[in-house]
Amino acid sequence: MVSRLSTGILDFDKLIQGGIPQGFFIALTGEPGTGKTIFSLHFIAKGLRDGDPCIYVTTEESRDSIIRQAKQFNWDFEEYIEKKLIIIDALMKEKEDQWSLVNLTPEELVNKVIEAKQKLGYGKARLVIDSVSALFLDKPAMARKISYYLKRVLNKWNFTIYATSQYAITTSQAFGFGVEHVADGIIRFRRMIRNGELHRYILIEKMRQTDHDKHVWEIDIVNGKGIVLKGRLEERREDYTLPEKVKRKIIESGKKTEEELK
Ligand SMILES: Nc1ncnc2c1ncn2[C@@H]1O[C@H](COP(=O)(O)OP(=O)(O)OP(=O)(O)O)[C@@H](O)[C@H]1O
Ligand SMILES: [Mg+2]
Repeated sequence: MVSRLSTGILDFDKLIQGGIPQGFFIALTGEPGTGKTIFSLHFIAKGLRDGDPCIYVTTEESRDSIIRQAKQFNWDFEEYIEKKLIIIDALMKEKEDQWSLVNLTPEELVNKVIEAKQKLGYGKARLVIDSVSALFLDKPAMARKISYYLKRVLNKWNFTIYATSQYAITTSQAFGFGVEHVADGIIRFRRMIRNGELHRYILIEKMRQTDHDKHVWEIDIVNGKGIVLKGRLEERREDYTLPEKVKRKIIESGKKTEEELK
């Protein structure tokens, strides 16, 4: 039987047969502000409650910012620091200490994560890399290779891993598509303006060894609580993407302009 880890969001666990299969490498992808970091904090908070060693690598926010954000959902990370939780500051360099990275390279990151794991002790552990895209910002072609390296090496250390990855706002193209191919699961975060209001959505695009839900779910981020599943979208995909005919017209007119420019 597949052993699974709760995401810390009970309603979400129900969509994936109880949780993330232990040892999996999960990609959380989506535009800025869609909830990837907060979804990751749920995973860590749950791990801490269960007594699992937890490691959080942050590249876009400082260590203090992560702790403050967690506190807003009533998770006190500070009391676990160095005992069950290590937050590796991989970019912000607010404080240079044992758990900050001088250079953000895949090798340095892996070494620091292993050092942290050794400090926290044996057993199954949870790891968040937020974001993995920071490792290949200047070399998107390396995304797949780097992701594969992380997965292969860290797997030996009994980790279940979340790796957040950003989408370019304009194209919705994954920043270096590689993460998704290497990942055992993909959770896609989206945002949309409807009736002049921001809405956020979540979709399980892939989860190996799991009979997972295939609907788009609207989510809410609630102060003091975190991510809440509001309900699933009943619309077909066509209802919230452009109709084929319109898309074709856009492409054709684009081609025309190109020809005219020649
Ligand atoms: N205490 C809070 N209560 C309610 N909503 C909050 C609270 N804190 C943050 N949010 C919401 O969560 C959003 C940020 O979510 P999150 O940091 O998880 O996004 P992200 O997908 O990680 O974005 P990025 O790719 O930029 O890191 C904020 O824009 C805000 O709307
Ligand atoms: Mg984030």
